Amino acid sequence: MEKGLRYRSRLILLFIILSYRPPLLIANQPGAEEKDLVIIGGGVAGYVAAIKAGQEGLKVTCIEKRGRLGGTCLNVGCIPSKSLLNNSHLYHQILHDSKPRGIEVGDVQLNLQAMMKAKDTSVTGLTKGIEYLFKKNGVEYIKGTGSFASEHEIKVQLNDGGETSVVGKNILIATGSESTPFPGLEFDEKRVVTSTGALSLEKVPEKLIVIGGGIIGLEMGSVWSRLGAKVTVVEFLDQIGGPGMDSQIAKEAQKVLKKQGIEFKLGTKVVSGENTGDNVKLQVDSAKGGKPESLEADVVLVAIGRRPYTAGLGLENIGLELDERGRVVIDSEYRTKASHIRCIGDCTFGPMLAHKAEEEAVAAVEYIKKGYGHVNYGVIPSVMYTYPEVAWVGQNEQELKSQNIPYKVGTFPFSANSRAKTNLDTEGFVKMIADPETDRLLGCHIIGPNAGEMIAEATLALEYGASTEDIARTCHAHPTLAEAFKEAAMATYSKAIHF
Ligand SMILES: Cc1cc2nc3c(=O)[nH]c(=O)nc-3n(C[C@H](O)[C@H](O)[C@H](O)COP(=O)(O)OP(=O)(O)OC[C@H]3O[C@@H](n4cnc5c(N)ncnc54)[C@H](O)[C@@H]3O)c2cc1C
Ligand SMILES: *[C@@H]1O[C@H](CO)[C@@H](O)[C@H](O)[C@H]1NC(C)=O
Repeated sequence: MEKGLRYRSRLILLFIILSYRPPLLIANQPGAEEKDLVIIGGGVAGYVAAIKAGQEGLKVTCIEKRGRLGGTCLNVGCIPSKSLLNNSHLYHQILHDSKPRGIEVGDVQLNLQAMMKAKDTSVTGLTKGIEYLFKKNGVEYIKGTGSFASEHEIKVQLNDGGETSVVGKNILIATGSESTPFPGLEFDEKRVVTSTGALSLEKVPEKLIVIGGGIIGLEMGSVWSRLGAKVTVVEFLDQIGGPGMDSQIAKEAQKVLKKQGIEFKLGTKVVSGENTGDNVKLQVDSAKGGKPESLEADVVLVAIGRRPYTAGLGLENIGLELDERGRVVIDSEYRTKASHIRCIGDCTFGPMLAHKAEEEAVAAVEYIKKGYGHVNYGVIPSVMYTYPEVAWVGQNEQELKSQNIPYKVGTFPFSANSRAKTNLDTEGFVKMIADPETDRLLGCHIIGPNAGEMIAEATLALEYGASTEDIARTCHAHPTLAEAFKEAAMATYSKAIHF
């Protein structure tokens, strides 16, 4: 009896020894093991797909060259910008908005280094968190640059030297995007900066010019304006916030930001620029035939948009197409013309947003695993994290007007909302747009405190095809800012109570 047991445990030990193979060896031998899915890029698109694939039981490898997971969003995008926005707002509020609240503060000092450190702590914690989730879900993580050797084989230039290759039944391209450069102004990330440089300036510039009045430009402009820079935003179009932002909301946002000290030059084109080493000079031209003007700043942030990034991927080796804007061409199931190679996130079509990339990641893995998936592109919220925030989902008024689609509008100002009044924070309003016949919600646009959180309710309503009466008859807790949302719905199908 005892002997038998010992014999069996020896057998088990032998089995363990025999079945042990160092995992790296497998990855190093081309073709040694075919993965179900190989992902190029460990940004939001890539890392979410990797985790989802692991959860679905697929053998999955994720290749990332940055040395850290999370891509643009976690490392130099959404997360660090929100850290600086939050803390610069607090600083600004202590300086300018504490007295009326009955708080007398003494000598307030900015410690920019410590503020940057707080940002880095958030970023590091989050990227490490993804590494943990990779381990938990059995995702193999290779630090290196991937490129197509053939339709199924990815060659990887490892970050710490050397080379390996991975073979995948399915391949997912998730290589993201990069800042679009301004012709003639080279990025040195000190005086002429992308958003990445603007997230790490060593001191507060005296004068900052932001080229481009989109979301990224206005967020970074807000940060440095609050910390003491004189900020000028030069925008080619006649409206800030980009084309998705409702024009009425955009006007209000501009008014509020102007009151905070940001100067705007709309309908103005930057013709040329020169980095002298001491400062940057820009020639600008008013689109409406005004006089050309010369502007000067210590730092210029170029925020004219982002473009897909596929350099060095070797797409030409396998004959994959890009469109005229550099986006990888895909069908509605994210397939390139080689049907086992899919592409999602910033490097293909659609809004360049982290949560859009995340939805596509889940859907792409579902297509691979189950043959079906879905993303509702009509219901993707946008948020500008300035103060107050601007958030929207669905269609805006100018879009509906230009398409001759009939609509009705209801609005409600935060100045009539009890919670906003108690918080001494009453700027902005909620605007709802609905179908005049069916009352179905078509779009919701908010400028105001917490707009970015509040838009989730509108997003859910839109996803479920709610009418504004459905929203208005849903009980909302009192006193909350969300009551403004309910009242705007009331104003759309009937009349608001408190306004
Ligand atoms: C300043 C700023 C603020 C932003 N704020 C927000 C926000 O608040 N909310 C929001 O939704 N979006 C925001 N965005 C946009 C958001 O960051 C992107 O939409 C998101 O990161 C896209 O994810 P992705 O995975 O497609 O691309 P990325 O995040 O760019 O990831 C791609 C990754 O692929 C890697 N890679 C590229 N080529 C290779 C290769 N050949 N081999 C290996 N690895 C490779 C890159 O190193 C990168 O890490 C912001 C962007 C910026 C710049
Ligand atoms: C900043 O973060 C704090 C702590 O979570 C939060 O209470 C506050 O509302 C945030 N401020 C802004 C402007 O988002």
